[in-house]
Amino acid sequence: MTARTTVQAFFDDKTWTVSYVIVDTATRSAAIVDPVLDFDFKSGRTHTLQADKLIAHVREHGLTVQWILETHAHADHLSSARYLQQHLGGRIAIGERITQVQQTFKKLFNLERGFLPDGTQFDHLFQDDEVFHIGGVEARALLVPGHTPADMAYLVDGAVFVGDTLFMPDVGSARADFPGGDAHALYASMRRILALPPETRMFVCHDYPPAGRAPAWETTVAAQRAHNIHARDNIGEAEFVQMRQARDATLDVPTLILPSIQVNIRAGQLPPPEYDGVSYLKIPLNVIGRTQA
Ligand SMILES: [Fe+2]
Repeated sequence: MTARTTVQAFFDDKTWTVSYVIVDTATRSAAIVDPVLDFDFKSGRTHTLQADKLIAHVREHGLTVQWILETHAHADHLSSARYLQQHLGGRIAIGERITQVQQTFKKLFNLERGFLPDGTQFDHLFQDDEVFHIGGVEARALLVPGHTPADMAYLVDGAVFVGDTLFMPDVGSARADFPGGDAHALYASMRRILALPPETRMFVCHDYPPAGRAPAWETTVAAQRAHNIHARDNIGEAEFVQMRQARDATLDVPTLILPSIQVNIRAGQLPPPEYDGVSYLKIPLNVIGRTQA
Protein backbone atom coordinates (compact mmCIF):
# COMPACT_ATOMS: atom_id res chain seq x y z
CA MET A 1 0.00 0.00 0.00
CA THR A 2 1.41 3.33 -1.01
CA ALA A 3 -0.79 5.42 1.31
CA ARG A 4 -0.71 8.16 -1.25
CA THR A 5 -4.38 8.91 -0.67
CA THR A 6 -6.43 10.33 2.17
CA VAL A 7 -10.05 9.51 2.89
CA GLN A 8 -12.46 11.89 4.59
CA ALA A 9 -15.85 10.55 5.68
CA PHE A 10 -19.09 12.55 5.97
CA PHE A 11 -21.80 10.82 7.98
CA ASP A 12 -25.43 11.79 7.43
CA ASP A 13 -27.30 10.98 10.63
CA LYS A 14 -30.71 11.29 8.95
CA THR A 15 -30.16 8.43 6.49
CA TRP A 16 -27.21 6.74 8.21
CA THR A 17 -25.23 7.18 5.00
CA VAL A 18 -21.48 7.74 4.79
CA SER A 19 -20.12 9.74 1.86
CA TYR A 20 -16.40 9.95 1.18
CA VAL A 21 -13.88 12.28 -0.38
CA ILE A 22 -10.81 10.38 -1.61
CA VAL A 23 -7.80 12.55 -2.38
CA ASP A 24 -4.61 11.85 -4.27
CA THR A 25 -2.36 13.96 -2.08
CA ALA A 26 0.28 14.39 -4.78
CA THR A 27 -2.04 16.03 -7.32
CA ARG A 28 -4.94 17.23 -5.08
CA SER A 29 -7.27 15.29 -7.39
CA ALA A 30 -10.33 13.87 -5.70
CA ALA A 31 -13.23 11.47 -6.03
CA ILE A 32 -16.48 11.81 -4.11
CA VAL A 33 -18.30 8.59 -3.23
CA ASP A 34 -22.06 8.31 -2.62
CA PRO A 35 -23.01 11.93 -1.84
CA VAL A 36 -26.36 12.66 -0.17
CA LEU A 37 -29.07 15.17 -1.12
CA ASP A 38 -31.18 15.97 1.94
CA PHE A 39 -34.86 15.31 1.40
CA ASP A 40 -37.82 16.07 3.63
CA PHE A 41 -40.52 13.65 2.53
CA LYS A 42 -43.26 15.46 4.44
CA SER A 43 -42.82 18.69 2.51
CA GLY A 44 -41.24 17.30 -0.66
CA ARG A 45 -38.37 19.74 -0.27
CA THR A 46 -34.73 19.02 -1.02
CA HIS A 47 -31.86 20.64 0.83
CA THR A 48 -28.14 20.68 0.26
CA LEU A 49 -26.71 20.75 3.79
CA GLN A 50 -24.75 17.51 3.34
CA ALA A 51 -23.67 18.38 -0.20
CA ASP A 52 -22.57 21.86 0.86
CA LYS A 53 -20.30 20.30 3.50
CA LEU A 54 -18.59 18.37 0.71
CA ILE A 55 -18.28 21.49 -1.42
CA ALA A 56 -16.77 23.43 1.48
CA HIS A 57 -14.29 20.62 2.14
CA VAL A 58 -13.23 20.46 -1.51
CA ARG A 59 -12.76 24.23 -1.72
CA GLU A 60 -11.00 24.52 1.61
CA HIS A 61 -8.44 21.93 0.55
CA GLY A 62 -8.06 23.18 -3.01
CA LEU A 63 -9.15 19.87 -4.54
CA THR A 64 -10.06 19.12 -8.14
CA VAL A 65 -12.97 16.69 -8.30
CA GLN A 66 -12.47 14.24 -11.12
CA TRP A 67 -15.10 11.67 -10.21
CA ILE A 68 -18.43 11.48 -8.45
CA LEU A 69 -18.80 7.75 -7.86
CA GLU A 70 -22.04 5.99 -7.03
CA THR A 71 -21.80 2.45 -5.73
CA HIS A 72 -25.42 1.78 -6.79
CA ALA A 73 -28.87 3.32 -7.18
CA HIS A 74 -29.53 3.88 -3.49
CA ALA A 75 -32.98 3.26 -2.04
CA ASP A 76 -32.51 5.10 1.24
CA HIS A 77 -31.23 8.53 0.25
CA LEU A 78 -31.28 10.82 -2.74
CA SER A 79 -27.98 11.48 -4.50
CA SER A 80 -26.55 14.98 -4.73
CA ALA A 81 -24.26 13.95 -7.61
CA ARG A 82 -25.79 16.39 -10.09
CA TYR A 83 -25.77 19.30 -7.64
CA LEU A 84 -22.14 18.62 -6.77
CA GLN A 85 -21.19 18.36 -10.42
CA GLN A 86 -22.73 21.76 -11.09
CA HIS A 87 -20.55 23.27 -8.36
CA LEU A 88 -17.40 21.20 -8.52
CA GLY A 89 -17.27 19.45 -11.89
CA GLY A 90 -16.23 15.82 -12.16
CA ARG A 91 -17.71 12.88 -14.00
CA ILE A 92 -20.65 11.04 -12.47
CA ALA A 93 -20.08 7.28 -12.72
CA ILE A 94 -21.84 4.06 -11.73
CA GLY A 95 -21.76 0.41 -12.83
CA GLU A 96 -22.89 -0.41 -16.36
CA ARG A 97 -25.63 -2.69 -15.11
CA ILE A 98 -27.49 0.41 -13.93
CA THR A 99 -29.34 0.00 -17.22
CA GLN A 100 -31.07 -3.09 -15.77
CA VAL A 101 -32.12 -1.09 -12.73
CA GLN A 102 -33.34 1.75 -14.97
CA GLN A 103 -35.38 -0.69 -17.06
CA THR A 104 -37.00 -2.19 -13.96
CA PHE A 105 -37.92 1.15 -12.45
CA LYS A 106 -38.90 2.87 -15.69
CA LYS A 107 -41.57 0.20 -15.90
CA LEU A 108 -42.46 0.29 -12.20
CA PHE A 109 -42.87 4.08 -12.17
CA ASN A 110 -44.26 4.28 -15.71
CA LEU A 111 -41.69 7.00 -16.38
CA GLU A 112 -41.92 9.42 -19.28
CA ARG A 113 -40.99 8.13 -22.74
CA GLY A 114 -38.01 10.47 -22.82
CA PHE A 115 -36.36 8.62 -19.94
CA LEU A 116 -34.04 6.19 -21.68
CA PRO A 117 -32.84 3.21 -19.65
CA ASP A 118 -29.46 3.31 -21.35
CA GLY A 119 -27.26 4.85 -18.65
CA THR A 120 -26.72 8.09 -20.59
CA GLN A 121 -27.81 10.10 -17.54
CA PHE A 122 -24.34 9.23 -16.16
CA ASP A 123 -21.04 10.43 -17.61
CA HIS A 124 -19.39 7.05 -17.32
CA LEU A 125 -20.49 3.45 -16.81
CA PHE A 126 -17.91 1.13 -15.28
CA GLN A 127 -17.37 -2.38 -16.47
CA ASP A 128 -16.27 -5.05 -14.04
CA ASP A 129 -12.57 -4.78 -13.24
CA GLU A 130 -12.21 -1.50 -15.09
CA VAL A 131 -9.15 0.52 -14.16
CA PHE A 132 -9.47 4.29 -13.74
CA HIS A 133 -7.40 7.02 -12.14
CA ILE A 134 -7.84 9.62 -9.44
CA GLY A 135 -4.98 11.98 -10.24
CA GLY A 136 -1.97 9.70 -10.37
CA VAL A 137 -3.53 6.92 -8.31
CA GLU A 138 -4.82 3.81 -10.00
CA ALA A 139 -8.26 2.62 -8.96
CA ARG A 140 -10.39 -0.34 -9.95
CA ALA A 141 -14.15 -0.80 -10.23
CA LEU A 142 -15.45 -4.19 -9.08
CA LEU A 143 -18.88 -5.53 -9.93
CA VAL A 144 -20.45 -6.80 -6.70
CA PRO A 145 -24.12 -7.57 -7.43
CA GLY A 146 -26.59 -8.94 -4.92
CA HIS A 147 -27.98 -5.99 -2.97
CA THR A 148 -28.97 -4.70 -6.41
CA PRO A 149 -27.92 -6.18 -9.77
CA ALA A 150 -25.62 -3.24 -10.49
CA ASP A 151 -23.60 -2.64 -7.30
CA MET A 152 -19.98 -1.66 -7.65
CA ALA A 153 -17.13 -1.48 -5.15
CA TYR A 154 -14.19 0.84 -5.75
CA LEU A 155 -10.68 -0.24 -4.88
CA VAL A 156 -8.30 2.68 -4.42
CA ASP A 157 -4.76 2.53 -3.04
CA GLY A 158 -5.29 -0.28 -0.55
CA ALA A 159 -8.79 0.80 0.43
CA VAL A 160 -12.10 -0.59 -0.81
CA PHE A 161 -15.39 1.33 -0.81
CA VAL A 162 -17.98 -1.42 -0.66
CA GLY A 163 -21.29 0.43 -0.86
CA ASP A 164 -24.03 -1.71 0.68
CA THR A 165 -22.40 -5.07 0.05
CA LEU A 166 -20.96 -5.36 3.55
CA PHE A 167 -21.69 -3.35 6.68
CA MET A 168 -19.61 -3.09 9.85
CA PRO A 169 -18.79 -6.50 11.40
CA ASP A 170 -21.51 -6.25 14.08
CA VAL A 171 -24.17 -5.20 11.55
CA GLY A 172 -23.43 -7.71 8.78
CA SER A 173 -24.71 -7.25 5.26
CA ALA A 174 -27.32 -5.37 3.26
CA ARG A 175 -30.69 -6.71 2.23
CA ALA A 176 -30.95 -8.58 -1.05
CA ASP A 177 -34.68 -8.37 -1.69
CA PHE A 178 -34.93 -5.31 -3.93
CA PRO A 179 -35.90 -5.90 -7.59
CA GLY A 180 -32.98 -7.76 -9.16
CA GLY A 181 -31.39 -8.39 -5.75
CA ASP A 182 -30.14 -11.89 -5.04
CA ALA A 183 -28.75 -13.37 -1.80
CA HIS A 184 -26.64 -15.94 -3.67
CA ALA A 185 -25.04 -13.22 -5.76
CA LEU A 186 -24.52 -11.11 -2.63
CA TYR A 187 -22.68 -13.99 -0.99
CA ALA A 188 -20.37 -14.34 -4.00
CA SER A 189 -19.77 -10.59 -4.02
CA MET A 190 -18.93 -10.54 -0.32
CA ARG A 191 -16.44 -13.38 -0.82
CA ARG A 192 -14.91 -11.52 -3.75
CA ILE A 193 -14.29 -8.46 -1.58
CA LEU A 194 -13.06 -10.58 1.32
CA ALA A 195 -10.50 -12.20 -0.99
CA LEU A 196 -8.65 -8.88 -1.12
CA PRO A 197 -5.48 -8.66 1.01
CA PRO A 198 -6.41 -8.89 4.73
CA GLU A 199 -4.97 -5.47 5.52
CA THR A 200 -7.19 -3.76 2.92
CA ARG A 201 -9.04 -0.87 4.57
CA MET A 202 -12.79 -1.13 4.05
CA PHE A 203 -15.23 1.77 4.01
CA VAL A 204 -18.97 1.04 4.20
CA CYS A 205 -21.83 3.19 2.86
CA HIS A 206 -24.08 2.94 5.92
CA ASP A 207 -23.89 2.22 9.58
CA TYR A 208 -26.82 1.24 11.76
CA PRO A 209 -24.96 0.90 15.06
CA PRO A 210 -26.32 -1.36 17.79
CA ALA A 211 -27.34 0.40 21.01
CA GLY A 212 -24.33 1.78 22.83
CA ARG A 213 -21.99 1.98 19.84
CA ALA A 214 -21.23 5.24 18.04
CA PRO A 215 -21.58 5.22 14.23
CA ALA A 216 -18.48 3.80 12.50
CA TRP A 217 -17.61 3.15 8.88
CA GLU A 218 -14.04 1.92 8.58
CA THR A 219 -12.93 -1.66 9.06
CA THR A 220 -10.60 -4.10 7.29
CA VAL A 221 -10.92 -7.26 5.25
CA ALA A 222 -9.28 -9.20 8.11
CA ALA A 223 -11.76 -7.85 10.68
CA GLN A 224 -14.70 -8.73 8.44
CA ARG A 225 -13.41 -12.24 7.82
CA ALA A 226 -12.97 -12.80 11.54
CA HIS A 227 -16.04 -11.08 12.96
CA ASN A 228 -18.73 -10.12 10.44
CA ILE A 229 -21.95 -11.62 11.77
CA HIS A 230 -23.14 -12.51 8.25
CA ALA A 231 -19.92 -12.95 6.30
CA ARG A 232 -17.13 -14.28 8.52
CA ASP A 233 -15.07 -17.08 7.06
CA ASN A 234 -16.93 -20.04 8.49
CA ILE A 235 -20.37 -19.02 7.17
CA GLY A 236 -21.20 -20.92 4.00
CA GLU A 237 -23.42 -19.83 1.14
CA ALA A 238 -26.45 -21.91 2.15
CA GLU A 239 -26.37 -20.62 5.72
CA PHE A 240 -25.97 -17.02 4.55
CA VAL A 241 -28.75 -17.23 1.97
CA GLN A 242 -31.17 -18.78 4.44
CA MET A 243 -30.40 -16.11 7.04
CA ARG A 244 -30.55 -13.25 4.53
CA GLN A 245 -33.85 -14.32 3.00
CA ALA A 246 -35.46 -14.94 6.40
CA ARG A 247 -34.33 -11.54 7.62
CA ASP A 248 -35.32 -9.70 4.44
CA ALA A 249 -38.85 -11.09 4.77
CA THR A 250 -39.20 -9.13 8.02
CA LEU A 251 -37.83 -5.79 6.81
CA ASP A 252 -40.00 -2.81 6.00
CA VAL A 253 -39.71 -1.02 2.69
CA PRO A 254 -37.15 1.81 3.19
CA THR A 255 -38.81 5.15 3.95
CA LEU A 256 -37.24 6.96 1.02
CA ILE A 257 -37.20 4.18 -1.60
CA LEU A 258 -39.80 5.79 -3.88
CA PRO A 259 -38.25 9.27 -4.05
CA SER A 260 -34.68 7.96 -3.94
CA ILE A 261 -34.90 5.59 -6.86
CA GLN A 262 -36.65 8.10 -9.11
CA VAL A 263 -33.87 10.61 -8.59
CA ASN A 264 -30.93 8.24 -8.38
CA ILE A 265 -31.54 6.41 -11.65
CA ARG A 266 -31.32 9.91 -13.21
CA ALA A 267 -27.84 10.41 -11.68
CA GLY A 268 -29.19 12.76 -9.04
CA GLN A 269 -31.26 14.88 -11.41
CA LEU A 270 -34.84 15.67 -10.41
CA PRO A 271 -37.51 14.48 -12.88
CA PRO A 272 -38.14 16.89 -15.76
CA PRO A 273 -40.42 19.75 -14.69
CA GLU A 274 -44.03 19.63 -15.85
CA TYR A 275 -45.58 22.56 -17.77
CA ASP A 276 -45.87 24.56 -14.55
CA GLY A 277 -42.12 24.37 -14.01
CA VAL A 278 -42.36 22.02 -11.01
CA SER A 279 -40.74 18.56 -10.76
CA TYR A 280 -42.98 15.81 -9.41
CA LEU A 281 -42.26 12.38 -7.99
CA LYS A 282 -44.65 9.48 -8.42
CA ILE A 283 -46.04 7.06 -5.86
CA PRO A 284 -47.20 3.86 -7.57
CA LEU A 285 -50.07 2.47 -5.51
CA ASN A 286 -50.15 -1.20 -4.52
CA VAL A 287 -47.05 -2.11 -6.46
CA ILE A 288 -44.18 -2.59 -4.04
CA GLY A 289 -44.09 -4.01 -0.52
CA ARG A 290 -45.99 -6.88 1.03
CA THR A 291 -49.67 -7.38 0.30
CA GLN A 292 -50.56 -7.68 4.01
CA ALA A 293 -49.09 -5.51 6.76
FE1 LIG B 1 -28.42 0.52 -0.92
